[in-house]
Amino acid sequence: MGSTGNITPEQVLAALSKVKDPDLRADIVSLGFIKDLVIDGGKVSFTLELTTPACPVKRDMQEAAEAAVRQLPGVEEVQVKLAYNVRGRAGVSPGDLLPGVKNIIPVASGKGGVGKSTVAVNLAVSLRLEGARVGLLDADITGPNVPLMVGLPSPAPVPVLDNKILPLEAHGILVMSIGFFTGEDTPAIYRGPMVHNAIRQFLSQVEWGQLDYLVIDLPPGTGDAALSVCQLLPLTGAVMVATPQDVALLDVRKALMMFRRLNVPILGIIENFSFFYCPHCGERVDIFGHGGAERAAEKLDVPFLGSVPIDPRVRETGDAGTPVVISHPDSPVAEAFRNIARQVAARASTVAHLRSSGLTIISGPH
Ligand SMILES: Nc1ncnc2c1ncn2[C@@H]1O[C@H](COP(=O)(O)OP(=O)(O)O)[C@@H](O)[C@H]1O
Ligand SMILES: [Mg+2]
Repeated sequence: MGSTGNITPEQVLAALSKVKDPDLRADIVSLGFIKDLVIDGGKVSFTLELTTPACPVKRDMQEAAEAAVRQLPGVEEVQVKLAYNVRGRAGVSPGDLLPGVKNIIPVASGKGGVGKSTVAVNLAVSLRLEGARVGLLDADITGPNVPLMVGLPSPAPVPVLDNKILPLEAHGILVMSIGFFTGEDTPAIYRGPMVHNAIRQFLSQVEWGQLDYLVIDLPPGTGDAALSVCQLLPLTGAVMVATPQDVALLDVRKALMMFRRLNVPILGIIENFSFFYCPHCGERVDIFGHGGAERAAEKLDVPFLGSVPIDPRVRETGDAGTPVVISHPDSPVAEAFRNIARQVAARASTVAHLRSSGLTIISGPH
């Protein structure tokens, strides 16, 4: 930090300490977000280092920081650069799986067919579009359809290096799927007591390298396979997908209870098949009574992350291997996925922040 003229670093930091991160609920100076402060006459420049490139309020915070410094007497020019340092696990112990992955986020559902895989794929790609390093693990041994959705073959030739299997790349993210080995048909060998060992072997043999986020498409429900994945990996927090009609049902509550028992925070619930825009008049139609998931989230004491409308392009582009956030980036449904991804990233940052202060927040039904 250098200082010439009348403006001092202390004055700048005092002004910046009035700006708060709305998710972490602390000021940006004590959070350690201010880096490379340079004062050159009336020119002040610094870097604002946020906890995720997918921060939903990054522009607001950049503007607030700039405005706070600009009102200091003598300041003529303020330059705020944005940078990111994704927070994650507090520490890695020997034997931990996936030591290079900062945040592991399973996408779960009470039952099949609610759009869990679709959400997992579009969430992963959205985080990538924000600039994060992202992996997508298809752990749904009941129907590994992630390869299809990202345009990779199934089965696929998977490279092996030093006894580790390497993920394939699609749309800027790293992808690993049980379907690369078995094809899309349900692999019968993964039934019964073999599930846990097979999943452990699968999880420990993939070399992900350094990732900010690993999104996992979990098997639906709370069976052995879902349970094994959640027991074996140090999860940041889980995302639940539900449709407006099934949020009141027991299986959503059961899935939430599973995470609670495993001490996994719930990042929130997403409502899929929420409503649609009439292709003829453009009017919004709430066929299933939109808002069910939001009300249920409130009742179950878990955050609500957003709703995804019904849009035939989601299925068409999913079947064709290009997620809708890439094929139709300006559509309302892509916008919904992008916003949800930012909410997920903000919640993950909050969980990591609380954890680094020794707190774990477990929400959900008791
Ligand atoms: N918001 C949506 N609008 C239209 N179709 C959707 C939407 N979400 C999912 N789908 C389609 O619904 C079907 C089931 O989704 P999928 O993600 O495979 O569910 P799950 O993984 O929960 O079984 C797929 O054909 C998918 O393309
Ligand atoms: Mg699926």
